[in-house]
Amino acid sequence: MTKRRTAILISGSGSNMLALLEAARNPSYPARPCLVLSNNPEAAGLARAAVLGVPVAAVDHRPFAKDRAAFEQALDAVLLAHGTEFIALAGFMRVLTGGFVGRWQGRMVNIHPSLLPLYRGLDTHARALAAGDTEHGCTVHWVVPELDAGEIIEQVRVPILPGDDAAMLAARVLAAEHALYPVALASAIRHAG
Ligand code: GRF
Repeated sequence: MTKRRTAILISGSGSNMLALLEAARNPSYPARPCLVLSNNPEAAGLARAAVLGVPVAAVDHRPFAKDRAAFEQALDAVLLAHGTEFIALAGFMRVLTGGFVGRWQGRMVNIHPSLLPLYRGLDTHARALAAGDTEHGCTVHWVVPELDAGEIIEQVRVPILPGDDAAMLAARVLAAEHALYPVALASAIRHAG
């Protein structure tokens, strides 16, 4: 199959984005990264992607204030200008409206640091520890208008160890994310046809 032109949306360090770029170096990988896009012009992941020769762009969400639709129209303009056919959210920390999700539904996935449907939203590691869970993990799912609620594509379970604090657990989950996302994105693209 021809590679699907895939935009990776980030807000921060972009370690998941780097894992996807690495996987996409394989000629048989079904995604061709066409853009790394951030809502944060200072996101460290932008420089990390640029060094690797991937087109980068930032649409700062702050000037748009509460006008989420206008912000998302600006995102769409950049996405379409780069020929985007698929979107991988990788630490993108802005809530997307139903309008944007509707335009990309079926062509947009996200990675979340919990065993969904457990712990939608933020602070998942601290919540799993507080609950006394013995395992945690990460999930790649299709994006739907409801936050962190789309059909699950793949999950990886990660043990919670005695003495874990949120940072230690987050690091262990993040390493699992880097292994999971490339596999799950390929599966999603092949499923999308
Ligand atoms: C990851 O833990 C991801 O699950 C969450 O935000 C973090 C992004 O990390 N949505 P990075 O920017 O990929 O390093």
